[in-house]
This record gives sequence, C-alpha cells and structure tokens, in this order.
Amino acid sequence: MELMEKIVSLCKRRGYVFSGSEIYGGLGGVYDLGPLGVELAKNIKDFWWRNIVYCRDNIVGLDSSILMSQKVWQTSGHVESFADPLVECRNCHSRFRQDLLPKTRKCPSCGKKDWTKSRKFNLMFKTHVGPVEDESSETYLRPETAQGIFVNFANVADSMRVKLPFGIAQIGKGFRNEITTGNFLFRVREFEMMELEYFTYPRKASDDFGYWKKERMDWYLSLGINKKNLRFRKHESDERAHYAAESVDIEYNWPFMGWGELEGIANRTDFDLHAHSEASGKDLSYFDEETKEKITPFVIEPSCGIGRVMLALLVDSYSEDGSRVILKLAPKLAPFKVAVFPLLANKPELVKLAKLIYEDLKTEFPVAWDDRGNIGKRYYAQDEIGTPWCVTVDFDSLDDKSVTVRDRDSTKQERVKISNLVDYFSKKIS
Ligand code: GAP
Repeated sequence: MELMEKIVSLCKRRGYVFSGSEIYGGLGGVYDLGPLGVELAKNIKDFWWRNIVYCRDNIVGLDSSILMSQKVWQTSGHVESFADPLVECRNCHSRFRQDLLPKTRKCPSCGKKDWTKSRKFNLMFKTHVGPVEDESSETYLRPETAQGIFVNFANVADSMRVKLPFGIAQIGKGFRNEITTGNFLFRVREFEMMELEYFTYPRKASDDFGYWKKERMDWYLSLGINKKNLRFRKHESDERAHYAAESVDIEYNWPFMGWGELEGIANRTDFDLHAHSEASGKDLSYFDEETKEKITPFVIEPSCGIGRVMLALLVDSYSEDGSRVILKLAPKLAPFKVAVFPLLANKPELVKLAKLIYEDLKTEFPVAWDDRGNIGKRYYAQDEIGTPWCVTVDFDSLDDKSVTVRDRDSTKQERVKISNLVDYFSKKIS
C-alpha cells in the first residue's frame, strides 16, 4: 500500500479524520476531524498561539466573524481577483484547474485532450444575509481570516494602545470553492487557518519579512518536522497574490506531489489598509508619536492551514517497524500523552490501582485507558495513534508502588514510582 493510503486508512480507523457527510457518499473536499484529529489540531493551534501571541509583547489575538459585509470582499480585491483558471473537457465535460492538469494534458476523467479555453473561476462561496435573496444581501464565506483583521485594525489599535510594530493573530475557518480538490487534507474546500498580520513601518517591512521567514521555519522545526522535508520557495512576480509585493512559501516534500506549499508568507504592503480606508471613509492610519507623522503601516503575513500542518505531521511521523506502525508525534502534539493499562483486566486489584493512576494523571494531561486484549496489542494500538508512553500496572506494582513505563519510539521499559509519575511525564512533555 502507498504511504498516503496507509495514512488515510489509519486516520479513519483510529479516529483522526473522516470524510465529510460520509454516510451520504461524502462531500467533495470536505473532511471532519475525529476525536483524535480534533486533539491534534487543538495542540497545533495552542502551540501556534503560544508562540505567536503569548510569547510576544506586541501581538494580540482576534476572533472576527466568518460573514462580513460584501463591501469587504469588493474592496479587498477578492471579488475581482480571487480566481483560478478553469478549463472544461469538451468530451466528458469534467472541469479542472488548468495549472493542475497533468503534464500530458490528458483529461484525468476520460483521457482525451480536448479542452475549452480557460476562464477565471472565483473561489468564494456566495451566500445571502437575511431573508431577501437579492444583490444587496449577497456576501461570501470568507476565503481568508485576514480581512477580519484589517477591518478591525483601528478597533484593536485604539482599544489595546499598541505601538508599531504590532501584530494581530487569528485562528478560524476559511472557505474556498476549489475547482480541483484532492490529496486528502492538502486541498479542501473548508479549512481552519492560522494567520498573523504584523503591522510595521514601511521602511522596516523588508527586514520584518526576513524575520518572520526565519521565525516560521523555526516553528515547524520545533514541531519535530524533519529539516530535510522543509524548504523556502520564493514566488515569481507572476504567481504572487494580487495584494503581495514579496512572498515566499514554506514548502513540505509531500509524498503525493513532491515540494508544495505548507505556509505562505507575504509582504502585503499597505494594500489592504489603504483600500479599506478609501472605501469606508474611515481613517486606518497610525499616528507615530515619535515622528508626529501619520502612516499607513505595511503588513507582513505568515498564513497556514491547520489541515496542511496536520498532514505534514502525519506524513513526517509515520513509521513502520515490521508489523508495528508508529506515529512518532512530538509528545506535546500527541492526542494522548500517556495510556494506562492493568496487566490483566480480570484482576480487580490491578484494575483498581490502574484506575487510581489513570484518574490522577488525567487531571494533568490527556490520558487513554485500555484493558482489552493482550498487553502487546495494547502497546501496538497506542503506537499507531502516537501515544508516547504506556504505563502498565502489574502484580509487583501492588508491593513496590511502581509501574512499568514503556517508551513508544525506543520500546524501552523502566520502572517508575507511582508517586513520581506526574513529574516524570510533565518534564518529558514540555
Ligand atoms: N491570507 C493569506 C492567504 O490566504 P494562501 O496562501 O492563499 O494565503 C494560506 O493560504 C494557507 O492556507 C496556505 O499556505 C495553506 O496552508 C492553506 N490553504 C490554502 N488553500 C487551502 C486549501 N484549499 N486546502 C487546505 N489548505 C489550504
């Protein structure tokens, strides 16, 4: 089986990711996170938030609405320009994104090579606000969270008294009616994004762009992603988004396509603040107390999709050792940090002590319980979902008040005092 097939199968079997609306045959490009997927995603988001917001003095958070005035999208340029080139096969009428067609240019559905001329297809999902479905009530599900930040620029600056340079961070859903979806979580139609808009002096924008490039690459390395699977790729002028003066991707070496975008980092200049200020008539400039000048800040934007980060982590951490499948997720990201087992489920004294340990550890971090099947199978089941350590309560535990702790990656086992367990794991997880 190919690596991606194995990962997709593991994700479904073990509760990481399910197809959206699966019992009705699925909905193209839409996935649901299962109980373990939601934990992994939460850990990624928490880790990002801690790194971007809590560890810095000049970055604050925001949670703006998915629905925004249609004027936002007209002004931002998304109505006009947020489009991909669409072609239709004249033979079978399937539609594809022109730039994602195979090199042979053969139709992926019927194999013919007879295409219509390409036309621009806007990726925004249209909807209406209120009970009247006319042009004035029309708006879109946001394709990026960034616009919510730009339209709240003055609200945040005034309420938080932040000084340039400062950032506004946001995590939230984005929607894109992609022409061609695929490769599991890589290109979907509904996804969560983590975006930072870092407002800075125009003269400092280039340096800050370089700063954020390094910061963001370091963040991926701190997740435990292998350095050899990450690289930067600078965008050529003809592939940059309509708002960007300078942009670079952090790419991952995906098993299904080779190098491809994991995160985009762009210098959006003053494009958005300037445009919204003009269109709304509201002053979105910043008054610099030192120079006594009004300026429209430039913006550096690192932006990534949580699904792509999850996928990179799943691919990067998947490994096999004979029949043993191991997700070598960093402990801080793993859905469960520890699993607790009684050696034998039919020995009440073992179950009782194991339950006490389980309840105690559960107050500190997410812990799994398993008392089914033989111990080897239980270890394998936890390895497959990425649980870094298993704790087994055996007959000796009743006397020596110690347990066996087994390490996922090395399979090494050691005895640890029950009273030391919280401390033991806390040190290892951080
Ligand atoms: N505000 C900037 C922006 O939206 P983008 O490069 O279009 O930039 C940012 O998107 C990130 O969102 C990408 O780097 C990728 O991680 C993720 N992303 C974009 N489209 C996606 C899709 N259809 N499915 C999954 N993730 C996607």
